Amino acid sequence: MKLLITGAAGMLGIDAQAAGLAAGHEVVALARAELDISDRDAVTAAVAQAQPDVVLNCAAYTNVDGAEADPDVAGAVNSSGPGFLAEAAVAAGAWIVHVSTDYVFDGTKGSPYVESDPTGPRSVYGSTKLLGEHAIAIAAPQTHTIVRSSWLFGAGGPCFPATMLRLAAEHDTLTVVDDQVGCPTFTGHLAPALVELATRARMPGVMHLAASGDCSWYQFAVEIMRATDTAVEVRPCSTDEFPRPARRPAYSVLRSERPEAPVLPDWRDGLGDYLSARVSA
Ligand SMILES: NC(=O)c1ccc[n+]([C@@H]2O[C@H](COP(=O)([O-])OP(=O)(O)OC[C@H]3O[C@@H](n4cnc5c(N)ncnc54)[C@H](OP(=O)(O)O)[C@@H]3O)[C@@H](O)[C@H]2O)c1
Repeated sequence: MKLLITGAAGMLGIDAQAAGLAAGHEVVALARAELDISDRDAVTAAVAQAQPDVVLNCAAYTNVDGAEADPDVAGAVNSSGPGFLAEAAVAAGAWIVHVSTDYVFDGTKGSPYVESDPTGPRSVYGSTKLLGEHAIAIAAPQTHTIVRSSWLFGAGGPCFPATMLRLAAEHDTLTVVDDQVGCPTFTGHLAPALVELATRARMPGVMHLAASGDCSWYQFAVEIMRATDTAVEVRPCSTDEFPRPARRPAYSVLRSERPEAPVLPDWRDGLGDYLSARVSA
């Protein structure tokens, strides 16, 4: 099959390319410099030229705090762009797989979020991503999979484990938020599952796909230091002690209510594989 991957130079995009090639597919990988998904004419032309079987959208405006001050650009990329891609995919007869986020939820449920739970984003980023979901569903009602994932980390980009290890090399003590709980998901585990969904399983609608297990950012940091034998004191703090421009959901654990949904490994396994990938890179 032929996959067109957008946002191909991003953290997930890099692993998606590798997963597509490893599964034996032809991959057309377009980074932002090659295709700006907020440019409707460019999207139409690129998809028409590639004639893919599947469009896998890994492009997004992912600066959660930056989006608060930059809602128009975030909206162009996260809300309009996915709609343009879905229109173009339909015109080419292609399926579209689009990646969305746990930040479409308000975080007050207190138990894992499933696909049918009401959304309620608290940030510009979350709101623009939710509008992107709607745009996909409108433009490609029968031929899309919207995959919501969470707390991504991977070898191809800046991410929480890399930041924590860098800070641990510079400080004796790290203070990390303990009242936000989610599912840290390794892109090296998510990407092959996305390719599988894009090429074989083709399950329509919204699907939650995040690592098994859950933790707070503080617990994640503690595990990173334990797994790497890093001697640093990690202290818990509250979100109020570490104010940021964008509000985050306090609890955004994702689980699927769809029996056919793939199940990803535990986040600790993801961390182990991430650390191995870092060593061998
Ligand atoms: N990171 C997370 O924790 C997380 C959690 C849940 C869901 N997600 C979702 O997962 C997907 C992949 O995210 P990621 O973590 O891989 O983020 P990432 O590393 O920031 O990758 C996103 C890519 O999109 C590119 N991009 C930005 N604007 C674009 C445009 N107008 N046209 C084309 N490409 C554009 C970026 O290029 P530049 O770098 O040049 O801007 C970047 O290469 C996104 O849909 C994101 O919303 C991420």
